[in-house]
Amino acid sequence: MAEIGKDLTKAAELLKKGELVAIPTETVYGLAGNALDEEAVLKIFRVKNRPQFDPLIVHVAYLNQAYDLVGEIPSLAEELALRFWPGPLTLLLPKSNKIPDLVTSGSDKVAIRIPNHPLTLELLRKLPFPLAAPSANPFGYISPTRASHVNQQLGNKISYIIDGGECKVGLESTIIEVQEKQLTVYRWGGLSFEELEEVCPNIKVEINQSSNPQAPGMLKSHYAPKKPLLIGNIEELIKKHSTKEIGLIAFKTSYIGNTNEKILSPNGDLAEAARNLFAAMRELDEGSCEIILAEKFPDEFLGKAINDRLSRASLK
Ligand code: TXA
Ligand code: MG
Repeated sequence: MAEIGKDLTKAAELLKKGELVAIPTETVYGLAGNALDEEAVLKIFRVKNRPQFDPLIVHVAYLNQAYDLVGEIPSLAEELALRFWPGPLTLLLPKSNKIPDLVTSGSDKVAIRIPNHPLTLELLRKLPFPLAAPSANPFGYISPTRASHVNQQLGNKISYIIDGGECKVGLESTIIEVQEKQLTVYRWGGLSFEELEEVCPNIKVEINQSSNPQAPGMLKSHYAPKKPLLIGNIEELIKKHSTKEIGLIAFKTSYIGNTNEKILSPNGDLAEAARNLFAAMRELDEGSCEIILAEKFPDEFLGKAINDRLSRASLK
C-alpha cells in the first residue's frame, strides 16, 4: 500500500524524480506527474490503465504559469479564469510546444486549471513544472474523493498519497472552451450552468457525444461501479426490482430505510449531495446489494453534473 501523509517536500522530491503522487483537489483526487516529462506522463496512463486517446488536465499554481503553456488566451477565457480560479473550471486553450503531445492526445488544445486545495496549491508552488493529473482511479471507475479511495485501488502502484481530507466539491471540474463570445461546455462538473451564465449567457452544451473530437475522452460509459446501476423514477424502479437486494441513492427522501440506502442530502442541498455522491456509490459497490438504483436529481446547479455521472455510471 502507498504511504498517506502531508509531507509536501517528499511529494515534490518524488515528482522531480519523475515519479507519480496522488494529490487532493477540491473536486476529486488526482494522479499527478510532471506534465512536461513524457516518461512521467506515460506512467500516468499505465498506472490508470487509461487509453492514450484520453487526454490529461494540466494543473498550475498561478495564471502566469498557464500563460506560459498556452498560445493566445481569448479575453472571455481570461475573464472566466480570473473569476473562477482556483476552482472547478477547466479551460481548453491552444497549446504551446512546451506541452508534450501525449498530454493532449495529439490535440492542439490543452485542458488547464488551478485546483483549489491548500496542500496541492502549496505543492504546485514548490515545483518548477505543472502537474498532469487525471482522477486517481482505474480507467472507467468512480473517481476518488478520499485518500483511502486512492489507496484501495492504486495503492500498490504508487508510493505516496497526499492526505487532503474529503474533497469539498466531490465531482470533477466543468470543462469549457471559449469561442469569441460563446462558451461550449463539454463536461458538467463542480462549476454550475448558473454560475457560468452570470459571466456569459451564450452557452452551448456538447455532452454525451463520444465521437466529439473536442473531448476524445468523454466516453459515454464512465464513473461506473462494478454492479449494475439504474437511474430513473425511483418508486417504479424499487417495485420492478423488489425481488433483489437493492442499494439506493436518493437526494433527500427515504424510500427503503435500511443501510443500503444513501440519502445524499437530507436538507436538499445539491452541493452536499455532490460531495457525497462518489463515496456513496463506492460503499454500495462494496456492500451486499445486488443492484444500485438512483433517483434522478433536479436538473439545476450541481444536479446537472450529478445526473451526468449517474447516467454514465448506468451505461455498460
Ligand atoms: O476535477 C478534475 O478535472 C479532476 C482533478 C484531478 O483535476 N481531473 C479529472 O481528470 O477529472 P480526468 O482525466 O479524469 O478527466 C479529464 C477529461 C478527459 O477525459 C477529457 O474528456 C478532457 O478532460 N480533456 C483533457 N484534456 C483535453 C483536451 N486537450 N481536449 C479535450 N478534452 C480534454
Ligand atoms: Mg476521470
